[in-house]
Amino acid sequence: MSRLVVVSNRCTVPRAGSAPGGLAVALNAALRESGGIWFGWDGSIADSTRRVPQRDDVDGIRYATVPLQKRDYEDYYKGYANRVLWPLFHYRIDAMQFQPEFREGYRRTNEYLARKLMHVLEDDDVIWVHDYHLIPLGHDLRSAGVDSRIGFFLHIPFPPFDVLRALPGYVHILWSFCAYDLIGFQSDNDLRNFIDCIERGTGAVVDDDGNISWGYRRSRAGAFPISIDPREVRDMVGNGRDVKTVRRLQQSLHGRPLVIGVDRLDYSKGLPDRFLAYERMLDRYPETVGDVVYLQVAQPSREDVPEYNALRLELEGIVGEINGRFAEFDWMPLRYLNKAYARPTIMNFLALARVGLVTPLRDGMNLVAKEYIAAQNPDDPGVLVLSEMTGAAQELDSVLRVNPHDHDGIADAILTALKMPLEERVERWQHAHAVITGNDIFNWSERFLRQLRATART
Ligand code: F6P
Repeated sequence: MSRLVVVSNRCTVPRAGSAPGGLAVALNAALRESGGIWFGWDGSIADSTRRVPQRDDVDGIRYATVPLQKRDYEDYYKGYANRVLWPLFHYRIDAMQFQPEFREGYRRTNEYLARKLMHVLEDDDVIWVHDYHLIPLGHDLRSAGVDSRIGFFLHIPFPPFDVLRALPGYVHILWSFCAYDLIGFQSDNDLRNFIDCIERGTGAVVDDDGNISWGYRRSRAGAFPISIDPREVRDMVGNGRDVKTVRRLQQSLHGRPLVIGVDRLDYSKGLPDRFLAYERMLDRYPETVGDVVYLQVAQPSREDVPEYNALRLELEGIVGEINGRFAEFDWMPLRYLNKAYARPTIMNFLALARVGLVTPLRDGMNLVAKEYIAAQNPDDPGVLVLSEMTGAAQELDSVLRVNPHDHDGIADAILTALKMPLEERVERWQHAHAVITGNDIFNWSERFLRQLRATART
């Protein structure tokens, strides 16, 4: 079997013996099977960079990593990736901060990463590139003479044509995809948007099976909804680790039902609307005042990108306002935690919650939604309230789906979830759980790699 080379923007070399997260578990399995290697940015910023990548071998997985120079971090990572592509691909033209030097930094850094990756590649490798930071990487590798199979998977949404074309030079981005043999998206919706964009933006022709004819090259595109390892989640819930923390949370509820949200602090997650919807519930249904606790974990993210800092300040204002209006000396309606917790702790928090609140304005998939389902006690499961604008909602049709802009609708859904009888909770949960076990993270990577390996070599 040809060796697999995984390429992602961030490539954090784990400490030996530490537990990898969901995506790493699936990719590690595939890497081990093929004797492969994971390549990417090590997360550091350095004045000068080494000629060849740093090699590490941890728990049987090989890593090759490189630092970024300050200018590349600013223009490529903070600039083009996170202030241009991230908002645009989440349908937020208004939040896009396009600057020509960001675009130049994106081009320059992808070329730099391709040059470094060339030190690692062998002839017959199968290369799997991940996410929006690296769209041009395939083209840069082809220009350097790589004729291996190269696949690309986009973890975030792909926007409709009228949104994409707000990006100066969008046609160039679209043409970059033609270097890939297989292009994967989270959902049929993203796939349809992509096909429409390349047909209208480049004149490429796509048949009903997703085969793309770019004129001189052929690719294939498909939907590959990413997932989790539900057994890993159940193990974390059942293993008794963090028992003290979880017990403290439980005791602090004094028998009140828990509503939980767990997100990176990101404007795509819809947190201001979510908080206002919860406030609407307290306003409209006075019986809930004093009788429910909403815990929101908002893990700090991209803190040196200005839009993220502005969001943090906005959220602090809304939380202060809600708690100021409704709190009592012995009850706080909204516990807002702007910090990160270890994965097992989060899984145990999810398991305790009667309602999982996942209401992004736009999300490629949203794995917390799936983790919430996997963490539940099958005999007494909680209810997931899930935004229709997530990839997860296209799969999980038995959960309570809401419009994340509709405060009344979310308020009603939380109340419905709180009051839902056991029998209905179990029935809805069983359907959702079957979807997740039917397509877990291992199915996802196997399906993508099987199709990539089956494509004809260019
Ligand atoms: O969901 C997209 C993504 O880029 C993930 O790959 C990553 O784990 C997460 O967002 C956090 O992003 P960053 O690497 O910018 O901290």
